[in-house]
This record gives sequence, structure tokens and C-alpha cells, in this order.
Amino acid sequence: MYNSQIIGLGHYLPQNSVSNDDLSKIMDTSDEWIQERTGILSRRWVDSENKMSSSEMGYKASLMAIKNAGIDKNEIDHILFATISPDYYFPGNGVLVQDLLGVGTIGATDIRNACSGFIYALSIANAYIQTGLYKNILVIGSELQSPVLDKTTNGRDLSVIFGDGAGAAVISRSDNQSKIYSTHLHSEGKNSLELSMKGPSVIHGMTELKTNTANPQLFSPYMNGQMVFKNAIVRFEEVIKEALNKNEFTIEDVNCLIPHQANLRISQFIQKKLGLKNEQVFNNIQKYGNTTGASIPIAFSEAVEQKRIKRGDLVCLAAFGSGFTWGSALLRY
Ligand code: UT7
Repeated sequence: MYNSQIIGLGHYLPQNSVSNDDLSKIMDTSDEWIQERTGILSRRWVDSENKMSSSEMGYKASLMAIKNAGIDKNEIDHILFATISPDYYFPGNGVLVQDLLGVGTIGATDIRNACSGFIYALSIANAYIQTGLYKNILVIGSELQSPVLDKTTNGRDLSVIFGDGAGAAVISRSDNQSKIYSTHLHSEGKNSLELSMKGPSVIHGMTELKTNTANPQLFSPYMNGQMVFKNAIVRFEEVIKEALNKNEFTIEDVNCLIPHQANLRISQFIQKKLGLKNEQVFNNIQKYGNTTGASIPIAFSEAVEQKRIKRGDLVCLAAFGSGFTWGSALLRY
């Protein structure tokens, strides 16, 4: 069995930065409320002047990841694309990136596990490399969420949180100390509608859309915020401990925890509960909001860029979100 490691990371954020004050001009909200409840100061939203799809943002992040990996794009032998905001109902975004990159007819897999999507994708990449099936896998998390948000006061609980952006990583066979120790994936489908967008899907609104009789509420995300918050803080803690225990590490051994950037208050709660120091946790939700499946690779890429994570560091990634799904990955960078 082979080990796998992350050899290159990249990210792409749309230029258009939207501040809390900008939002308070279009809905009944305030900088004070948003900062106090979420820690967010601004988010990036694709605008009409610089239109971008999630596959295009994923492609841009991939170019940076491949460059940082120091490999030729033709050495990539599989693509994994995590998103809940794909360009099309079908096909998935993976094939679109295969085409944009102009690489050979390698396989492309799509993952729909929302905030946990990157960890699910990383887990599959790790297993593919461990078995020897592939050597260099491009893993992408990218989301274009702003067009579907309800930007009126009705949708303010969700629209102030979410942002657009993409992150990518090249996962390769390791011949040194860098490796992914383990990944841990969980789900609880009984809570599937507590954080969901029902349509358009085959049974929710697709037919009605054609006759203009669809209920628009089907096409905006819904979140039972307090319930999600309460579950998130329990599951984050559990799944981080699961990864540490499995590999016989302690919380003191962790150089950097990158929690999915759901809400700064959630990250701070987990940090306190686990007894982590400020320098052991990386957050950037303040600048980008919650970018769902893109948040972990964007944060990881920035943490490396800012030298908050160096080669040899023990890094823990953890996520919780729609499904509910949650997961963690423990790795030596
Ligand atoms: O990434 C996937 C996982 N997602 C998460 O983990 C997010 C989990 N949930 C949360 O982060 C929080 O529940 C939110 C940030 C979404 C909401 O914070 P909250 O403290 O749970 O607020 P709430 O929904 O209970 O609303 C409290 C009050 C309400 O007013 P009343 O009924 O007390 O008068 C809301 O109408 O705040 C009001 N409110 C707002 N006020 C100003 C809700 N959204 C806003 C807003 N601006 N944007």
C-alpha cells in the first residue's frame, strides 16, 4: 500500500468583495449583527462584470495548485470535483475542468457532500493512491452560491453568510514523511432537510418550472441555523478526536486545525473545547464568508501561502454540513 500526500495547493476568489455595510443597504441587517453572530466582515460574490461559474473558478484554483505542485498537468490521472453549485444539472463539473485543462481522457468524479465535500473527495483520492490505482489526483472544491441566495430581508439569515470561491489540491503518491494518516466520514440523513435546497430537482419544481408555476422557495437554500449550529459543534469535536485517537496523536501535536469555515463562532467554540491555542487554528471566514465545499482548500492554500503551515506540520481538517455529513482528515503536510 502506498502513502499519499498533498504536493500543491491553489485557490481562486472572485474580485468583487461585498462588505456587511453593502448588505445592510439591500436588506434589513447590520455590520454589528453579522460580526457578532458569524465573525464575517466581507465575502466575495461573483458580479455581472466578471461572471464566473464554479467550474471556471475551480479551473483557476487548479492551475495554481498544479503550478505549486511542480508537475505537468498531463501527469494528473484523475479529477475529483466537490461542489453543490455545479454549472449544469448534468454533466458534473469534473469533466468541464478536464476539458478546460486540456488534459487527456482521464476520469472525472463529482462529489455532492456540501461543506464536507472536500474531505469526502480527499478521502477518495487518498484511497485511490493507497491502492496504486492513480499517482496524481486533482481535488477541487468550488462554489458559486451568490446567484441562488435570497438577498432580501427574508433570506438574510443565509445570504449574509455564504460566499463564492474555489480551492484545489494535487494529491500524489508520497516517497517521504508527508502523508495522509487517515480520513473519517460520517452522515445522518434523517436531518437532510435541515440544511437543504430542494429544487430544481426531478421531484421538486422541475416540471413546474417549464410552466412557470414553480414555488420559488424551492430554489433558495433553507437552514435551521440553531439546530445546525448545535450539531456542528458536537460533530466537529467528535470527528477531530476520532482522527487523533486513531493515529495516537494528542491535541498538542496538532500544528494547524483547519475547520470548515461555517461560522467563526463555531471555530472558536471548537478551539476552546479542544484547548487549542490561537496559532493552532486557521480561519479566514472573516474575508470570504462560508464558501461551503471550497472553504477548506481555500484556507489550506492561504495558510501555506502565509507560512502558517510548513512542510512536516501535523494538519487536521474537519467539516460539518448539509446531509448532515461531517468528516476529518489528519495529515503530515
Ligand atoms: O456551512 C454549513 C454549516 N452551517 C453552519 O454551521 C451555520 C450554523 N448556524 C449559524 O451559524 C447561526 O445559526 C446563524 C448565524 C445562521 C444565525 O445566528 P443565530 O444566532 O442562530 O440567529 P437566529 O437565526 O436565531 O436569529 C436571531 C434573530 C432573529 O430575530 P428575532 O426573531 O430574535 O427578532 C432573526 O430574525 O436575528 C435575526 N436575524 C438577523 N438580524 C439581522 C437573522 N438573520 C439576521 C441578519 N441580520 N442577517
